[in-house]
Amino acid sequence: MADTTRTATLTIDGQSFDLPIYSPTAGPDVIDITKLYGKAGVFTHDPGFTSTSACESSITFIDGEKGELLHRGYPIDQLAEKSHYLEVCYLLLYGELPSAAELEKFEHTITHHTMIHEQMHNFFRGFRRDAHPMATMVGVVGAMSAFYHDSTDINDERQREIASHRLIAKMPTIAAMAYKYSIGQPFVYPRNDLDYASNFLRMCFAVPAQEYVVDPVLSRAMDRIFTLHADHEQNASTSTVRLASSSGANPFACIAAGIACLWGPAHGGANQACLEMLKEIGTPDRIPEFIARAKDKNDPFRLMGFGHRVYKNFDPRATVMKQSADEVLDLLGVENNPLLQIAKELERIAVQDPYFVEKKLFPNVDFYSGIILEAMGFPTSMFTPIFAVSRTVGWISQWKEQLADPAMKIGRPRQLYTGETLRDYVEIENR
Ligand code: SDX
Repeated sequence: MADTTRTATLTIDGQSFDLPIYSPTAGPDVIDITKLYGKAGVFTHDPGFTSTSACESSITFIDGEKGELLHRGYPIDQLAEKSHYLEVCYLLLYGELPSAAELEKFEHTITHHTMIHEQMHNFFRGFRRDAHPMATMVGVVGAMSAFYHDSTDINDERQREIASHRLIAKMPTIAAMAYKYSIGQPFVYPRNDLDYASNFLRMCFAVPAQEYVVDPVLSRAMDRIFTLHADHEQNASTSTVRLASSSGANPFACIAAGIACLWGPAHGGANQACLEMLKEIGTPDRIPEFIARAKDKNDPFRLMGFGHRVYKNFDPRATVMKQSADEVLDLLGVENNPLLQIAKELERIAVQDPYFVEKKLFPNVDFYSGIILEAMGFPTSMFTPIFAVSRTVGWISQWKEQLADPAMKIGRPRQLYTGETLRDYVEIENR
């Protein structure tokens, strides 16, 4: 735990209570309220955890004002440009960039865990063929706890390690199988002679009828998208994984819970919702209509891919994604992609609009990602599964960190109760 030399004093009805203040290596100080209820008999109240630190972590740091994202201290733009996804996985899991030998061993381990138990194929066939791939992923990942009993004991460090490797390795295979099942094509097995991103592309787009040659442009773009989505502090799905894990649930069940939470359109589902919004806008002349709707308090519509709980500046991932979109679409020969033109015009108008400026609403990671993914050949239903594949390393890194935290307890929030107070049962004839 960070050191503490200062205290905050809370005064309630003339009585004062001193609460320790911890100073982090970066970011705001935190006030420790663990003893508050015992001392003062009061709860704090923070729905949505807008001002609450839920844990101590050293994995990822976001400076929302600067628009900065660091993984173990390394900025995301440098990692996106100079590193690659499996190296970022190693960094998130173990805290340091690997040596060449460490990286080779890690990549060999992940590559050789990419197949799933053959009997697990049956799970896919239990879903309707039009099931959303996220529904399939929640189900199949949860079912891993019924197959990999030798890596479910969270108190065994080696089993935690094996579960971590299995999840990182198998998520692309499961996501690709969910996609293939939804389009009625046969599953494609992973290959050990391909890198992580190339393997995923081949498992999604190869068919038995002909050889599939991975396009290096697509593979590089896919790997960069994986890198940009890998981890992001205590976001909703990561907090879900931590809360599930705090009860002692097995890693596969915890990651299935994280996938379920990520699916929501306010979170990881925003990339699908954003592309659908851009298609609904259709032409640049309809942008003002949608900007007006986003500002209308009586309209639940929100500009998908805009705004963020933490970033009050540009999401640095969106900046890299926007550059990537230009490169990938040019290299794919998708000249003047209409959706990209609408997205750029929408961004140009929105970031100048007083409503968005005042509320500090900028494009987030989901604003441009869908345009690239669609140009790569993915249907919108695969956007969030791809986010889940990438975020698995973040979830599992945070899961491992929490299990090693001596301060870890089962998460059990309290509430502000405003319901009925004690009253006696009324017989039905007296109601
Ligand atoms: C991700 O947490 C993470 O780190 C998540 C993520 C990750 O990597 O894990 O970064 C991934 O989930 C990115 C966010 C993707 N979601 C979207 O793009 C959906 C659209 N965005 C919004 O739903 C919203 O911005 C959230 C959910 C992202 C953040 O919501 P907050 O922090 O709860 O902010 P808020 O809802 O309190 O909004 C503050 C104000 C409100 O107006 P007032 O009530 O103050 O008048 O800004 C408005 C909101 O109405 N607002 C928007 C808006 N987002 C916020 N108005 C129009 N369009 C929007 N997109």
